[in-house]
Amino acid sequence: MKSFLLISLLSVYLVCFLPTSLLWAREPIEPLPVEIDYDIKKAEIGKALFTDKILSKDRSISCASCHDIDLGGADKRVVSIGVGGLKGNVQSPTVFNSRYNFKQFWNGRVDSLLEQASGPVHNPTEMGMDKDEVEKRINASEKFQKLFSRNFLDNGKFYQFNDPITYDMVIEAIAEFEKALVTPNSKFDRYLRGEEQLSQLEASGYQLFKNLGCVTCHNGINIGGNSFQKMGTIIPYTYKESYPDRYSFTLKPYHKNVFKVPTLRNIALSAPYFHDASAKTLEQAIKTMSHHNLGYNISDQQIKKFIAFLNTLTGEKPAILE
Ligand code: HEC
Ligand code: HEC
Repeated sequence: MKSFLLISLLSVYLVCFLPTSLLWAREPIEPLPVEIDYDIKKAEIGKALFTDKILSKDRSISCASCHDIDLGGADKRVVSIGVGGLKGNVQSPTVFNSRYNFKQFWNGRVDSLLEQASGPVHNPTEMGMDKDEVEKRINASEKFQKLFSRNFLDNGKFYQFNDPITYDMVIEAIAEFEKALVTPNSKFDRYLRGEEQLSQLEASGYQLFKNLGCVTCHNGINIGGNSFQKMGTIIPYTYKESYPDRYSFTLKPYHKNVFKVPTLRNIALSAPYFHDASAKTLEQAIKTMSHHNLGYNISDQQIKKFIAFLNTLTGEKPAILE
């Protein structure tokens, strides 16, 4: 009797007083933080740079041309079109929540957002610029002189009007903006925090996601973005040499067709899917994934469940974009 009482008391204690963070720890997915840290003044400069065409060689495109903030921060085209109408060779992924990815780009060839932000500016099929040209243009722009002045904090000192703006400052501001692109409070995150219930269909979709094993690759705070995995783990997926898989970077044969597992946050907004945009719809993406990566051919009813669950992963627009 005494031990029964002890056990009962212990259960009450566990349920009532265990910190909520420990409760989440039992789920393979964590919610995005509602409050995030970033330098808002610097990020606002980055926002202006992100949407301005000044960073592209022929002033035809901006970062936002390929990362549409209304389409989950991604691009609806198969491959993005860069300066001079040049086509890239891979689908543009979302820029949302990228601060939580362990590496950047499909093949994870850079580690940080700072390194990443420099990539598209130089890429000849994206913006096609060099460091000197960026500095020349930004320094000649009154708009950016004004934006940087008294807003860009460097080593405890604010940049003053007419001080030279360096390339590194430009990249730092863009990276700070990228840090602000977090989409909190999705229905699923609210569910994880105990603030909202999932519908029966959504809940069974989440169960399926765990039971079939999607969660072995898509887990953690970004529901992906934390490991490299092979596309076609169980049933080989047709490999196209020209795509930037991990192999194209490391040249290790076992890295062929290996990619950073993409985040599934806001996935309902960012069609088409996969590095080669071969899945036009979420339904197709789910079918291909379960077939090639888990070896299951799933039913229409199961697809419905998955879609209901994946729809709960759409978060709020990042505060900086409001
Ligand atoms: C011409 C289209 C285009 C432009 C312009 C462009 N991007 Fe991208 N972006 C892409 C593509 C395509 C990829 C994927 C490249 C890869 O993985 O090899 C990408 C990848 C990224 C990633 C990595 C996301 C991840 O999950 O790995 C971030 C972040 C990003 N871009 C931010 C930016 C910023 C900031 C700018 C402006 C300075 C910019 N992009 C300009 C097309 C573009
Ligand atoms: C073995 C690891 C693994 C498993 C298991 C797995 N995925 Fe994936 N998933 C990936 C990789 C890697 C990609 C990127 C593939 C590509 O671009 O070619 C991906 C891409 C996706 C995409 C497209 C994302 C985008 O932005 O284009 C969706 C949707 C998806 N997975 C859903 C699922 C679902 C649902 C399941 C379970 C049925 C699942 N995945 C199981 C590794 C996995």
